[in-house]
Amino acid sequence: MSVPDLAANKLNPPGTPVNPEEAKHVKLFHPFQQKSVKIHNRIGVSPMCMYSSVRGHLNDYHILHYGSFALKGAGLIIIEASGVVPEGRITPQCSGLWNDDQIKDLKRIVDVIKSQGSTPGIQIAHAGRKASMSPPFKGDYLENEADGGWPNNVVGPSDVPFADHYAQPRALTKEQIKSIVRSFADAAVRADKAGIEVLEIHGAHGYLIGNFLSGHSNKRTDEYGGSYENRTRFGLEVVKAVRAVWPTSKPLWIRISCTDYVNPDPMGHDPNGWDIYQSIEFAKEVKRLGVDLIDCSSGGNIKGVKYPAVPMYQVQFAEAIRRHAQIDTAAVGLIVEGKDAEDILRKEKADFILVGREFLRDNEFVLVSAQEFDVNITWPNQYSWAVKKARRHNTTKGSDEKTTIP
Ligand SMILES: Cc1cc2nc3c(=O)[nH]c(=O)nc-3n(C[C@H](O)[C@H](O)[C@H](O)COP(=O)(O)O)c2cc1C
Repeated sequence: MSVPDLAANKLNPPGTPVNPEEAKHVKLFHPFQQKSVKIHNRIGVSPMCMYSSVRGHLNDYHILHYGSFALKGAGLIIIEASGVVPEGRITPQCSGLWNDDQIKDLKRIVDVIKSQGSTPGIQIAHAGRKASMSPPFKGDYLENEADGGWPNNVVGPSDVPFADHYAQPRALTKEQIKSIVRSFADAAVRADKAGIEVLEIHGAHGYLIGNFLSGHSNKRTDEYGGSYENRTRFGLEVVKAVRAVWPTSKPLWIRISCTDYVNPDPMGHDPNGWDIYQSIEFAKEVKRLGVDLIDCSSGGNIKGVKYPAVPMYQVQFAEAIRRHAQIDTAAVGLIVEGKDAEDILRKEKADFILVGREFLRDNEFVLVSAQEFDVNITWPNQYSWAVKKARRHNTTKGSDEKTTIP
């Protein structure tokens, strides 16, 4: 059974201003257009692994999970890191896009997201030396083969493990590198077939692309290691291959870790590892290759470094890349208040806001943020008699509430 179509019924999507003119002063509720894709507001759900797939297939749980954000007005929903090969998953329960059978499961979720007027995105990934681990809610250990893991088939640029309890990775051969590049492109084709509108390459958090970027995890002596030019080669090859098959009408994003924090100063230099200055250069290069936005995250590649995990701690990276590489950026990380999100956009530190855990705590983040600005926002049409119940912000202004319920 398909979901009633908003467009067919001439209904506004949840999360859009009832009267766009009245909401003009709030950038969060301006549409975000890239290529032919128009996202109806500037708040997206950051990709978050749910560790609930079976053999890499998304299922009913994901319909419920992602559907709830679409129903409550998120402009964009980036579906979790999805392995481009089975051994590129973080855990055995992570989703994947390595075979054509997975397209139909993804399409079910895409259709539900689109039915509410939201934009479906997906992140394609290879976990590199951090693959074959347990889902965090089960513990923090290397999964063995009996439990679906592949502890002896974990790969990286070099044979340097992430930590003692992680797998001993095998250094990829050049042949294997080329094959993984092709797998990213193949996954992109599948994402397009499923109807995904925004594709994000996962280059952050110490997974394979990030392993190559940083001299701390990449100890190769061939053309994929050593200099900045060599360490970025794999990431750039992935971008090139994906852009070649991903429709030119659709945006391509990449998430990177803007520093490894080996230098504890977030804006400090670490020329032989990975830092914001190399991130800016990398952003310029991927822009030339057709990337439309840099999603600015940080860390995850080196165990035991210190993070300044304070509200909005990664916004400085989005701002620096936006300014120096002249490319759209997304800000993410401990953004939990609408007014902070708005401030980031208004001060032109980023072009788009991604929110992770706050959406898990409260999938009405968009609707609640609208109340903070007294913007009369469209609620799910079916819920319109409930609009008055403002949660954190006790305002009824702009409410759609009916005074009598027939
Ligand atoms: C449960 C969970 C799963 C995550 N999975 C991913 C993922 O698949 N890909 C990714 O790039 N980041 C992932 N992240 C990081 C988030 O996308 C986000 O960048 C991070 O949580 C910081 O944003 P927040 O403070 O709004 O949560 C995950 C975070 C959480 C909490």
